[in-house]
Amino acid sequence: MATDKEIVGSVKEQLAKLFEESLRAAFPDIEDVHPMIAICNDSRHGDYQCNNAMSLWNKIKGQGTQFRGPQPVGKAIIDNLPASEMIERCSTAGPGFINVVLKKQWIAKSIERMLIDGIETWAPKLPVKRTVVDFSSPNIAKEMHVGHLRSTIIGDTLARMLEFSNVEVLRRNHVGDWGTQFGMLIEYLFDKIPNWEAASAQAIGDLQAFYKASKQRFDNDPDFKERAQKAVVSLQGGEEKYRKAWTQICEVSREEFQRVYQRLGVHLEEKGESFYNPYIPKALDLLNNKGLIQESEGARVIFIEGKKIPLIVVKRDGGFNYASTDLTALWYRLNEEKADWMIYVTDVGQREHFEMVFAAAKLAGWLPQNENDFPKASHVGFGLVLGDDGKRFRTRSTEVVKLVDLLDEAKSRCKLALEERGKATEWTAEELEQTAEAVGYGAVKYADLKNNRLTNYTFNFDQMLSDKGNTAVYLLYAHARICSIIRKSGRDIEELKKVGGIVLAHPDERALGLHLLQFAEIVEEACINLLPNLLCEYLYKLSEDFTKFYTNCQVVGSAEETRRLLLCEATAVVMRKCFYLLGITPVYKI
Ligand code: ARG
Repeated sequence: MATDKEIVGSVKEQLAKLFEESLRAAFPDIEDVHPMIAICNDSRHGDYQCNNAMSLWNKIKGQGTQFRGPQPVGKAIIDNLPASEMIERCSTAGPGFINVVLKKQWIAKSIERMLIDGIETWAPKLPVKRTVVDFSSPNIAKEMHVGHLRSTIIGDTLARMLEFSNVEVLRRNHVGDWGTQFGMLIEYLFDKIPNWEAASAQAIGDLQAFYKASKQRFDNDPDFKERAQKAVVSLQGGEEKYRKAWTQICEVSREEFQRVYQRLGVHLEEKGESFYNPYIPKALDLLNNKGLIQESEGARVIFIEGKKIPLIVVKRDGGFNYASTDLTALWYRLNEEKADWMIYVTDVGQREHFEMVFAAAKLAGWLPQNENDFPKASHVGFGLVLGDDGKRFRTRSTEVVKLVDLLDEAKSRCKLALEERGKATEWTAEELEQTAEAVGYGAVKYADLKNNRLTNYTFNFDQMLSDKGNTAVYLLYAHARICSIIRKSGRDIEELKKVGGIVLAHPDERALGLHLLQFAEIVEEACINLLPNLLCEYLYKLSEDFTKFYTNCQVVGSAEETRRLLLCEATAVVMRKCFYLLGITPVYKI
């Protein structure tokens, strides 16, 4: 979401600019010192700290320096800071940390400016232009399961955060739409629905059942099996009739996936495995020319240092596989799409696969040796979704849970809770429906995103739909409450913004103000480390800081009403942006 207003950059970044000047002035002979700025661990010491003194001291000691230790080095850095509106005071502590206290007037001004110029001016600045986020990526004709749900939710959030940071994002749905199973599906289609060409795609009905039936036939009927194997060859050879049948089968799956995406409000662009197929020979040639591909037990493989089994790129029967497709997709994304960051969101079970693919790309010189240099490829792994029994999440029938049913249940539970609170008479039917959706789907997303993605988490409706604790319900209600404070004040917030005048006199006002200002660096950190839970933690802490402020500082009817209403508004604005980035629709009344 680009803005014509200047993007101010995070507090960290703004402090880094000041300290960079000071480091250059105080130590002109030392090249390449980058300011190391962090949030203070203990807020009693300050808001931020600069940690350069110790490493600088280690560099210069024993070289006839005038300094007598890291503390004086720290002091020199402080003395050389340029004058600024930003810093109230600095002090050295411990072995040379520099603690920084920000001016509350500056914090207040920054918030006022954001209210006028928009929260887009608080977007972080990232060192990338174009990324591919490869997420969701279910398999045609197979069930889309909770693993794909996690990938969809996490990937969408990462894409949203990057887009907010003015990075171009190619949202790629790398669907499994190629492979030997299509031979059997196509042949089964010919048998079951002879007029399939004229019939609508829906004639196939439940695709999972269709898949199962065709598999059974494949396993038990040798004649069918042979036809299915020939069908694969016809399909891969591009024969019209087979291509058409394949398209029709894919279309049925696509419509099913869409029912999930539509509920979640997630947008993806499909470039499935089949898309890369024509490019595979060329990509493998490039790898072969570098001498990377070897013969092993009839297959063609790439050996990777430190890995016991090589990466198979051409199977024994001459066919391509998951790895050949991913190597080719990586090549395509780098060279055709000119992406500088390729992000893959799948369960941790695929970590090894991606490590090998990325390692091969490094050997080929497609990716730089250093992990931190761009272009870069990152695997975003995530853990399992567990049921209350601590085992993989399934319904009683041991079938994989149908995602659409799962989402619908979250919604209907929310609707029931709202009805129990009398909202059916208070609100229009549409309002009730929309709120139930926002809260229900939001709860499912938040319960997933709030955990570090690598850990397994337990799926529990009662927990995620509770209005207490760290849940979307609690946070959405907190936001609605702030909106209602503003509404009930009867003041015109647009007018108040023009007047300004935020003063952070009370410690709880200051704490809230500072936390608001840290939004940009949290989004930045969440993007760089690909960790949406950091944004959830930030949001939860924001609502806690707001509660403290609201408990201890009277807003409506007080002498400080105007300035405190502005702080309420700023909190609501930042909360809404957090919701947006997490893919959650905010609600305005409860
Ligand atoms: N279709 C795969 C699965 O369901 C996920 C694909 C992930 N993306 C990729 N480029 N390999 O496990």
